[in-house]
Amino acid sequence: MNEQTLSMRLERVAAHVPVGAHFADIGSDHGYLPVALMRRGRIAKAVAGEVALTPFRSAERTVRENDLGHLISVRHASGLAAIRPEDAITAISICGMGGETIRDILDSGKTRLNGQERLILQPNGGEQPLRQWLMDNGYRILCEEVLRENRFDYEIIVAERAEPVTYCAHQLYFGPLHLKSRSPAFLGKWQRKLRHKQKTLSHLTRAQQAVTEDKVREIARQVHWITELLA
Ligand SMILES: C[S@@+](CC[C@H](N)C(=O)[O-])C[C@H]1O[C@@H](n2cnc3c(N)ncnc32)[C@H](O)[C@@H]1O
Repeated sequence: MNEQTLSMRLERVAAHVPVGAHFADIGSDHGYLPVALMRRGRIAKAVAGEVALTPFRSAERTVRENDLGHLISVRHASGLAAIRPEDAITAISICGMGGETIRDILDSGKTRLNGQERLILQPNGGEQPLRQWLMDNGYRILCEEVLRENRFDYEIIVAERAEPVTYCAHQLYFGPLHLKSRSPAFLGKWQRKLRHKQKTLSHLTRAQQAVTEDKVREIARQVHWITELLA
């Protein structure tokens, strides 16, 4: 993967960035996503935010080598602190981190959101707490995707601020739009998850180790929900 050839996962994220966006990629690592979008003429300007020094330098290098320093600002900052009001950001991606981490980045930086941005989120697990944050903060989920690459199931969640919306517990767990579309990739992901959770449950119930009853009950509930989904 590089700034010319993105992974399939980042290609699908890129597809949700509106043409002409003022784009912020938070946790940009090598900076491939904003640089690829700029090289393709898809976005007007960009911020690449990175909290860690080595990937920050790597993003700086990618931008420099592509001669895009006048269009892409690389900033060493945690979360949404990379964004300034004068950037007039219209789309933000936060990808390749746990859903809880993405939620915490959004929550601790929410005063920096102007409410006009499209959020393009690619959590690695923890989708439920992330959807909960979106609902609690007035975001509607516009699109959800599951894709499989290198034997991982990746989720992409696209959301925008809208009229308040209420998602039930099932919708928060599986994704409101996934439940409607039931795509083969989505069902495949949950078939694999079900096998994994059933194994965990049988280990926990057989093992003598101290696991709280709450934990076993919680996994059993999830197994029940997934079984119902796939029935
Ligand atoms: C696994 S990489 C994903 C890189 C890229 N977004 C992608 O999806 O391919 C996660 C990156 O997020 C950065 N990161 C983690 N927490 C962050 C935060 N609070 N603010 C900015 N960057 C963060 C890490 O340093 C790391 O470079």
